Amino acid sequence: MFNKKGIAPFESKMWLASPTMHGEELEYMTEAYNTNWMSTVGENINEVEKTAAQKSGVKYAAGLSCCTAALHLCCKFASEKLYGKPAISHGALEGKRVFCSDMTFDATLNPVVYEGGIPVFIETEEDSWNMDPKSLEKAFEIYPDVKLVISAELYGFPGRMDQIKRICEKHGALLIEDAAEALGAAIDGKPCGSFGDYGAISYNGNKIITGSSGGCLLTDEIEVCNKAKKWSTQAREDAPWYQHEEVGYNYRMSNVIAGVIRGQYNYLQEHIDKKKAIYERYKAAFSDLPVKMNPITPGTTPNYWLSALIIDKDYMCEQLRSDNKALYIAQNGKSCPTEILKALSSINAEGRPIWKPMHMQPMYRMHDVIGREGTLRCRTNAYIEGGVRDIGAEIFERGVCLPSDIKMTAAQQDKIIEVIRSCFE
Ligand SMILES: Cc1ncc(COP(=O)(O)O)c(C=O)c1O
Repeated sequence: MFNKKGIAPFESKMWLASPTMHGEELEYMTEAYNTNWMSTVGENINEVEKTAAQKSGVKYAAGLSCCTAALHLCCKFASEKLYGKPAISHGALEGKRVFCSDMTFDATLNPVVYEGGIPVFIETEEDSWNMDPKSLEKAFEIYPDVKLVISAELYGFPGRMDQIKRICEKHGALLIEDAAEALGAAIDGKPCGSFGDYGAISYNGNKIITGSSGGCLLTDEIEVCNKAKKWSTQAREDAPWYQHEEVGYNYRMSNVIAGVIRGQYNYLQEHIDKKKAIYERYKAAFSDLPVKMNPITPGTTPNYWLSALIIDKDYMCEQLRSDNKALYIAQNGKSCPTEILKALSSINAEGRPIWKPMHMQPMYRMHDVIGREGTLRCRTNAYIEGGVRDIGAEIFERGVCLPSDIKMTAAQQDKIIEVIRSCFE
């Protein structure tokens, strides 16, 4: 019995974060249909690019099929600038170490691997759940030759990306900012997406606004924007026939999807306000429980995309996880993410463990992780042996993402709160 109070399940599933449409999206899509701009060209794309640049605080945006595509092109641009490799083949980062966020979705660094680069993970800062600037400094001490950093903002709650940028500048490195989850968030009033030499945002179906899919590459350089548009449409040269001097990709945004995104931008602030209200209701309701909500770094304005909690160490019941299963032993007054997820599922609500850190993923287990004290290979072992702390592993072990769908009513959220509270009884 995972639901100690016998609370009745929701009739329709309470999602972590599902799309919320308003009607205008359909009008813009229909316009694309009626004008026959059913392609990767059209007014919706132009408008999305204009709005994306303006909202993200950069001069230019290139509309692409997804944020992963944007991050891939960011890697190409960075490698071209750093190593002067002509963009005629894969392997632009061949054999090069790249400092990457550890506590993120793997799309942040997949493009590094597409290009033959070697991700080196930077420890997570306990107070922000984002890349730790002090560990990044240490990483440059150990690998002074590294010239590229990819840093993401987790769940729309930014850390100090401005500090990360300053550290990169000090070491002559370029920064790619993965603001996929942080559209509409800001640091000291400056929008997320504008801190990197190159930036990327996502309109994936679960994001704060969505086009079902889609993304933008963000830049202050018109040449980069134009080249992103060229590379994303198979790198055609200006010629009467199909003429190619560089490798191309089919990465451009569809004008139909751009219609959805165009309509959604009008509701960005409304979505943020609703997400914030959800976060604050959780925070108030759990104030007497041994848990904390996602940290808000001083000076930052989150977009509150996903609410998450972390259980205090002393109030964790026993929990054991393999690569694909989890067990726990229920204990009075204590709980764990596995118990909370089962309790949520018993009322037809979706939760999710905190993103599993990259250094704990089977494919990256032997990659370096750099913390404030230095390099630690295979950090999971260090953690088990009680050596240096592994902040990412700790947040993963004790953290859980909560239903954060903006269509959830206060009454529905109260039910979720009651079920979570009952786990600690
Ligand atoms: C941090 C992060 N980076 C990149 C991506 C990839 O975005 P997309 O699905 O638009 O490729 C996502 C989510 O999907 C993400 O959460």
